[in-house]
Amino acid sequence: NAIESGSVCWEAPSNIALVKYWGKKENQIPANPSLSFTLKNCKTTTTLNYVKVSENATLSEEIEFDVIFEGVKKESFKPKIATFFKRILPFCSYLKAFRFEVVSENSFPHSSGIASSASGMSALALCVMSLEKSLFPKIEDDFFYKKASFLARLGSGSACRSIKGDLVVWGEHKEIPLSSDAYGIQYPFKIADVFKDFQDTILLVDKGKKQVSSTVGHNLMHGHPFAAARFQQAHDHLSALIPIFKNGDLAAFIKIVEREALTLHAMMMSSDPYFLLVKPNTLAIIHKIWEKREESNIPVCFTLDAGANVHMLYPSKNKEEILEFVKNELVVYCENGHYICDEIGEGSKKL
Ligand code: PMV
Repeated sequence: NAIESGSVCWEAPSNIALVKYWGKKENQIPANPSLSFTLKNCKTTTTLNYVKVSENATLSEEIEFDVIFEGVKKESFKPKIATFFKRILPFCSYLKAFRFEVVSENSFPHSSGIASSASGMSALALCVMSLEKSLFPKIEDDFFYKKASFLARLGSGSACRSIKGDLVVWGEHKEIPLSSDAYGIQYPFKIADVFKDFQDTILLVDKGKKQVSSTVGHNLMHGHPFAAARFQQAHDHLSALIPIFKNGDLAAFIKIVEREALTLHAMMMSSDPYFLLVKPNTLAIIHKIWEKREESNIPVCFTLDAGANVHMLYPSKNKEEILEFVKNELVVYCENGHYICDEIGEGSKKL
C-alpha cells in the first residue's frame, strides 16, 4: 500500500456504568453484562501520527511509539499502551509496518480521580481504525465501529462502551439482541425522554491515584465467595431496567442504580484481600443525597465507580436546584471544592 505517513485525530468520552462490570475472564471477556451512560464533557482527544518504517528494516514484533500527554513526553504511560498494541496486533498486523506518536490530552484534570482509561483507550482504538480504513478503504461503518469497540476493550474493558452514545450495553444478555462479550452495542430499545438528557455531576472527593487498580479488583472476583450471585444479579438488573427505561419509572431506576454502586463496593470489601475505596466524604455525600431526595422529591441518585468520587445522576429539569444543592451543601465534601458537570452524550467524534 502506498501510505507512507499520516495523522488521524479522534475525541472519545468517558462513560459511567449503571450496571457494573466487575470481574473478567481471559482476554478481557466480562463475567457479566454491563450498561453505561456515555458522557459528554469528560473526554480524551488523541492524535495518532504514523510513519512507515523503512522497507529494508526487519519488521519488529513490537510496535515502536512515543507518547506525548498534554505537551509532555510521558515514559510512564508507555507500558499500558505497549500492552494495548501487543494485544491488538493479532487483529491489526498492518501496525507492524509503522512507527507511531500518540499525542493525547484530557478535558478533565489529570489528577481528578477520574479514570481516563475508558476515554483514552477508545480514542486510541478509533485512531487505529482510521489508519486501517485508509489502508482498506472498503471497510464499512458498522465494521469500523464494532472493531473500534472490540480493540478498545482489549485496552481497558469499560473503554468498549465509550465509542457510541448514549446508552451502551457490553456483554451477552438474553433479552438484548446482538449483545456481545466482544464489544459494546448501543442499547437497542426505546428510552423515555427523561433519560435522554440525564445529568451527571461528578463530586471529586479524592483526586489521588486509587490504591487498588481495577485490574487487581477484577481478578479478586475469581474465587470470590459471592461471585456467582453477583454475576446473576447484574443479569437480573439489566432485565429489570428494560421496562424502566421504556416507561421512565425513576423510583425503580434509582433503586437499581444505587444498589449496583453499593454492590460493586461490597464486592471489594468482601474480597480476599479486602479493600475499601470509599472515603468518609463519599458516605457523607450519599447521606446528603438521600436526605435531599426525601425532602424535595427530586429523583436524584448516586453511583460510584472504582474510587471515592460520587456521580450524582438526575433529570435535566432539576439541574438548577441540584446545582444550588451542590454549591450550598456538597462542595464542602469535595477535594478543593471541585466537581464536574457532565451529562449523557453521543459518543466519539472524528476531528
Ligand atoms: O475498564 P476497567 O477494567 O477499568 O473496569 C472498570 C470497572 C468499573 O468502572 C468499576 C465498572 C464499569 O463497568 O465501568
